[in-house]
Amino acid sequence: MDKLRIVGGRPLQGEVRVSGAKNAALPILCASLLTGDPITLENVPDLRDIGTTLALLGRMGVQIDRQAGGRVTLCAADINRQEAPYELVKTMRASILVLGPLLARFGQARVSLPGGCAIGQRPVDQHIKGLAAMDAEIRIEHGFVVAGAERLRGASILTDMVTVTGTENLLMAATLAHGTTVLENAACEPEVVDLANLLIAMGADIEGHGTDRIVIQGVERLHGATHRIIPDRIEAGTFLCAVAATGGEITLQGAAPGTMGATLDKLREAGMKIACGPNWIRASMHGRPHATGCRTSEYPGFPTDMQAQIMALNTLASGTAVITENIFENRYMHVQELQRMGADIEIDGHTAVVTGVESLSGATVMATDLRASASLVIAGLAAQGETTVERIYHLDRGYERMEAKLQALGARIHRIQ
Ligand code: UD1
Repeated sequence: MDKLRIVGGRPLQGEVRVSGAKNAALPILCASLLTGDPITLENVPDLRDIGTTLALLGRMGVQIDRQAGGRVTLCAADINRQEAPYELVKTMRASILVLGPLLARFGQARVSLPGGCAIGQRPVDQHIKGLAAMDAEIRIEHGFVVAGAERLRGASILTDMVTVTGTENLLMAATLAHGTTVLENAACEPEVVDLANLLIAMGADIEGHGTDRIVIQGVERLHGATHRIIPDRIEAGTFLCAVAATGGEITLQGAAPGTMGATLDKLREAGMKIACGPNWIRASMHGRPHATGCRTSEYPGFPTDMQAQIMALNTLASGTAVITENIFENRYMHVQELQRMGADIEIDGHTAVVTGVESLSGATVMATDLRASASLVIAGLAAQGETTVERIYHLDRGYERMEAKLQALGARIHRIQ
């Protein structure tokens, strides 16, 4: 298994291009199932989760043409299997995103249940509840969600909590349903908006995306479209946290600062100087960061996907930060590893109290999820001495060429195979 070896203590300096957003690309790839016409996507990041999704779609019969530079054309004209098998779903929960499109277009779907995962239970009951409200017959059989419907019917659906992939699944399903669907308590995340924009380009009738009430008038069929995936706000935020921890100056090109308000606010609180244009961010950090607490919440609040990275920054800050994780119940797996590097962190339920130390010391560490791994890389870049981050296949799920991008900023970081 690959590892990253980092020699810390060097400020980061230079320019990085932000990749396309993983969490926008995943539902958008699945949306190709909604039409028999070709869908052409640009700015698709080269990530393990994207590879998994393409493998899943390929097995169903989607024709895929993946070109250099992040251009992917998909054509779901000849689908021979409406099924997502366990061996793919278990490696990537987002595979559940094929459920809505398959059911809407073919009237049937069989998708393995994802089961537990490293960051908590993460059930899919809201996806199922919503589709059932749209007149689908759904049963759980041998670990699979087995769903059928002659044609989905529009419905008014209020989810018990805000769920990002739940909103996306129901949004896709509703585009081909008979009648009007209203999604209340919908997720407002930019990735949901990006999906809605693709669906509209495909001929869907959608209003209210980006708010918590999305209204969809079902249409008879959708057609082909070309769409560019939005920039990855979490990747961009991760690089900014790294520079805030090590000191230095960075320019992010191809970024979407308009989607990063909560993260940029926190980094300014920590003492970072930040200037933004429509698609770039320039940020510099000199001296020790100030402690900056946060409470994770749905968009536009502080993203749970940035919690581990902001914690890594706080381990080195002056003062004490209180961080509260409100979205997932078990998302502090990075804490033990950061403590092994000398961080002072106390956990009490959903809350972490982080008291900054003068310096971290390099160590061999391992993380069990994507963003936790990113926080260990940040800590390693800022620590004194050598850090080895093990099991970086988690990082490869969601960061495109992370070590190459960091090397370009002057980091001493290498992959060991
Ligand atoms: C998505 C993102 C993930 C991010 C998360 C929260 C993708 C591919 N992944 O995950 O990176 O961390 O949003 O911003 O976009 N829940 C239920 N029942 C459901 C659905 C969700 O109880 O049917 C709960 C979850 O356990 C969690 C909360 O709702 O506590 C929010 O989860 P959700 O927004 O669904 O996360 P994902 O869409 O899986």
